[in-house]
Amino acid sequence: MNILRRAVLSAAMLAACSGVALAQNPIVIKFSHVVAPDTPKGKGSDKFKELAEKYTNGRVKVGVYPNSQLYKDKEEVDALQLGAVQMLAPSLAKFGPLGAREFEVFDLPFILPDKAALRRVTDGALGKRLFQKLESKGIVGLAYWDNGFKVMSANKPLREPADFRGLKMRIQSSKVLEAQFRALGAIPQVMAFSEVYQGMQTGVVDGSENTPSNMFTQKHHEVQKYATLSDHGYIGYAVIANKKFWDGLPTDVREQLEKAMTEATAFANDISQKENDEALAEMKKSGRIEFITLTPEQKAAWRKALEPVYSDMSSRVGKDVLEEFQRETKAATN
Ligand code: LMR
Repeated sequence: MNILRRAVLSAAMLAACSGVALAQNPIVIKFSHVVAPDTPKGKGSDKFKELAEKYTNGRVKVGVYPNSQLYKDKEEVDALQLGAVQMLAPSLAKFGPLGAREFEVFDLPFILPDKAALRRVTDGALGKRLFQKLESKGIVGLAYWDNGFKVMSANKPLREPADFRGLKMRIQSSKVLEAQFRALGAIPQVMAFSEVYQGMQTGVVDGSENTPSNMFTQKHHEVQKYATLSDHGYIGYAVIANKKFWDGLPTDVREQLEKAMTEATAFANDISQKENDEALAEMKKSGRIEFITLTPEQKAAWRKALEPVYSDMSSRVGKDVLEEFQRETKAATN
């Protein structure tokens, strides 16, 4: 066989093989996350799986791996960049180690008055700009998903800023959260989400901040005596994918996945408040933890104590990002 003929033949065989591969082998997406299935993110990712498989007529199979089954906080981002998994939805407080420090603007205490303000940021130009920061890291941002507003938990009542003094508080890997607890006189400690329950149980940490749905599904209320309904901060997610994988998808498949993502996003954001309200009600009913409501004076004292975090962290998140964030959130409340 001459060289030309052999080349044509192998090209034809290759084309046939890849045709068969596309027709028969589904494209597999591994979607890893760290929370329980019964949470806003857990339910959102399950919804995405359902819709993605439906809209692509089974050409795509999505495997959702909850509860840090595959990877813990930091590892999952490495795994995404390496292509070991294709999709994640890390909390916005976990993008700093990746070099996308601007995402930590969401962690500034009391920066979000409500969800309407949040939407102006995530659905607007700033939300897009933040996603663009991920491209150079080999990551594409697909959507923002809500969890909700945080409560502060510990084994002692937290009413005044002084109550935090000397407490070891677990944080996500955000420098802004670190600054927040330092401003309160506490000792912040970065810890993977999957290790928090044990950390609380064994006294490695005294307390933490999280949403009611995360607390309840991880049973934090069984190892913390008090939680303050402070609404001082927010936990939400950026749903992200390995860029090379996403860009390499056949166009029609990617379009269907985008449609599935749009609908899964609406679903996740729609259920998030209810999920958190129900989790809070369950924890109250359990009688194992006492919830504290701050008086207006106490809340004002928290705000005052946390005010310096803005100037300290403005260069970390970017002055322009902070100003744009504040412009958008103010516009929403006016
Ligand atoms: C945490 O680590 O506390 C949370 O952000 C986990 C999550 O993904 O909600």
